[in-house]
Amino acid sequence: MIIITNKPKKLSGELLVPGDKSITHRALIFGALAKGTTEIKGFLDSEDCRSTISCLRALGVIISEKPGRLVVEGRNKIMEEPAKVLDAGNSGTTARLMLGILAGQHFSATITGDQSLQKRPMKRVVEPLSQMGVNFGEKVEHLPLTVRGGALKSIDYNSPRASAQVKSAVLIAALFAEGKTIFNEPHLSRNHTELMLSAFGAEIKRSKNQVLFEGGQSLKGRQIHVPGDISTAAFFMVAAAIVPGAEVFLKNVGINQTRTGIIDVLKEMGADLKIDNERLWGSEPVADITVRGGAKLQGIKIGGKIIPRLIDEIPVIAVAAAVAEGKTVINDAGELRVKESDRISAVVTQFTSMGMAITETEDGLIIEGGSSLTGAEVESRGDHRIAMALAVAGLAAEGETTIHNAEVINISFPGFIPALRSLVTEKQ
Ligand code: S3P
Repeated sequence: MIIITNKPKKLSGELLVPGDKSITHRALIFGALAKGTTEIKGFLDSEDCRSTISCLRALGVIISEKPGRLVVEGRNKIMEEPAKVLDAGNSGTTARLMLGILAGQHFSATITGDQSLQKRPMKRVVEPLSQMGVNFGEKVEHLPLTVRGGALKSIDYNSPRASAQVKSAVLIAALFAEGKTIFNEPHLSRNHTELMLSAFGAEIKRSKNQVLFEGGQSLKGRQIHVPGDISTAAFFMVAAAIVPGAEVFLKNVGINQTRTGIIDVLKEMGADLKIDNERLWGSEPVADITVRGGAKLQGIKIGGKIIPRLIDEIPVIAVAAAVAEGKTVINDAGELRVKESDRISAVVTQFTSMGMAITETEDGLIIEGGSSLTGAEVESRGDHRIAMALAVAGLAAEGETTIHNAEVINISFPGFIPALRSLVTEKQ
């Protein structure tokens, strides 16, 4: 599949972005671990979340699809030994959180993923889980991994990186452990797991970058309404910010503080962005966001503790930086190199061919603003967020942009192209 984008005459309208990917994974997983039934409304129906569903089903979890909702029959933490190798597909969140579940089971199971996921680092999860008593055998760096779980002990773990996937795997394993698990991280990563654990009736203490969690607790099934995904909304926010005269209204977007780095950055760059109707959906805050194009954007510096709050949005932030005035410098984002692709290298090679003045550093990007972008033939590198960022860049480029291998968008947002089209009025 390819996508072709052009500079639109107009970009305007209202969108309901699909459900949050991180929250959908967790709702399925905690629903499966809980006692009783969990109903999930507004879930993200995408390939990554389907990977979580199929791994859970292989562990004996009954998940039924009703109109507009998923119903998960919880197994009160005890899973069934799978008859086959679990397959996390392209989804890092599925693989790493599933390791937390397997850690607590009294059987041995193997989990793998697609070619891209088999290259991504797993030792970051293997390390703390091994300290808790899980046996991984010899092979610990990459998928496929074989996990022999069982009687776990609690740990006091200082994570070298701010990773919500590592934190979540440890907290899930801690549900099976004796004693109090403490997890420290250098900066606060997304906290959906902590919020959801307490929504499912567990007691969890959070302070700054530390979580304390007493092992052995059980969870109670509940209803969950998943907010719109801010990481998906980000593509439309930037699209509206860079197209003069644009006006885009995004409804029911999750604005959890650990995810709103994109809003802070766009505001600091000078974008015209308004947040209205703030309210809570369960424990997650939600709002409506309006972005208007035409405001002059300025280059800024991005680094330090904001990085985990916007890590998935950096490819599309690069697009805003390219049309801004002045230089944007992004540091401390070395994690981008181990996402669905090496996103630093993907952004530099693909955007350079569209005329962006962008250079790579070991842990980030330097973007000289004020480039005039030109349409080009580009490639997603098998990465959904690169494909969508390229489509947004295409809206600011003179001439046609053709994005190859764009079907990867289905990983997080199967409806992206129709949604973008619904906002665009083509030039005659
Ligand atoms: C996610 C955490 C982040 C993020 C990923 C989703 C999650 O990864 O980039 O897209 O749902 O926990 P890390 O935990 O590796 O930082």
